[in-house]
Amino acid sequence: MDRFKPYRDQLATLEKAGRKRQLLIPGGKDFSSNDYLGLAHNAFLRDVAQTAIANGIAHGSGGSRLLGGNHPEHEALEAFAARHYGTEASLFFGSGFAANAALFATLPQTGDLLLYDAFIHASVHDGMKLGRAAFQPFPHNDCDALEQEIRTWRAEGGKGTIWIAVESLYSMDGDRAPLADLARLADSHDAMLVIDEAHAVGVFGERGIGLSGDLGRQENVIVLRTCGKALGGEGGLLTMPMVLREFFINRARPFIFSTAPSPLTAYLAQQAIAYVADNPSLQADLAGHIAFARDCFAGLSLGDHQDSQIFPIILGEDRIAVDVATLLQGQGFDVRAIRPPTVPAGTARLRISLTLNVTQDDIHNLSTALHAALAQAEAA
Ligand SMILES: Cc1ncc(COP(=O)(O)O)c(C=O)c1O
Repeated sequence: MDRFKPYRDQLATLEKAGRKRQLLIPGGKDFSSNDYLGLAHNAFLRDVAQTAIANGIAHGSGGSRLLGGNHPEHEALEAFAARHYGTEASLFFGSGFAANAALFATLPQTGDLLLYDAFIHASVHDGMKLGRAAFQPFPHNDCDALEQEIRTWRAEGGKGTIWIAVESLYSMDGDRAPLADLARLADSHDAMLVIDEAHAVGVFGERGIGLSGDLGRQENVIVLRTCGKALGGEGGLLTMPMVLREFFINRARPFIFSTAPSPLTAYLAQQAIAYVADNPSLQADLAGHIAFARDCFAGLSLGDHQDSQIFPIILGEDRIAVDVATLLQGQGFDVRAIRPPTVPAGTARLRISLTLNVTQDDIHNLSTALHAALAQAEAA
């Protein structure tokens, strides 16, 4: 008996469809990571980490925050984040995925309705499936359709709270949510708005706070800022009213039944947020890369890309995306193909992310190689 046959069969199906994934050690010029500001290897933060360890900050938390794992560094980070982002309270998780999963599994209650953008991240899907509220998607960035869903639900007798889940900058398309309109809609329907700033924190906004700006301070807005992308570390920070922080601590299973992130991680997250706030040249340098790349990639199929560090080069067929990515990898560019189900069928793409790990020369060289690779793929 081959007990692993179901798995082999599914892997074979993926292989046949050009969708089988493999782990690669990063190599070549970085056009695939989310280390947008190049902080994952930043010398200042490395020194900060070394000094922190030398001074006895623990590299392990020892337990759940509720059972011996709550350290001064966690509390300090959360107090700092609440001040920095202008909210009553903040809570730190080991990853953005855990924060989203906890949020959507815990806060929306029976009788509530969660409306989520059709392009929302997998972590929101997983959270809401564990939660108590009804949920349904609305078409990407379509506020009119969203409002219609709300009105229909109310007209059919829906009485609970409406929750709206969006990303400020979409990770696979590099386009932005209409946050001001969404907030107006949330206000006018007494809804809660959850904004995932995973790809915008550090990169946009005054002192790197993201695209939500003052909206993030509203009582009916919860913001997720992840620390593993532009902030160069790991973890996820939710900002929110104090009463919701207390609710998480008492009810959020991924928070309660999990070892706390290490105090060192929490300390470094705080240092990275402060470092970005104090060094606006990082944002300015990345903005320079974005403007330069826009010229280089002009004429390519960029979907809905809008002024951001994420450039989707939409190629359509899975295999073409994989072939072009492989060709570019062979020439020393770390470019990855993104295929369904991460993106809708028929929209396989290269997701080119710009970081300060590359120079404008690198971007120019990539664009030359990319144009040649696309011409070759078309001829094939
Ligand atoms: C939009 C979005 N939200 C949340 C996450 C999860 O964050 P983390 O990587 O910190 O788990 C990601 C990660 O890819 C993301 O793209």
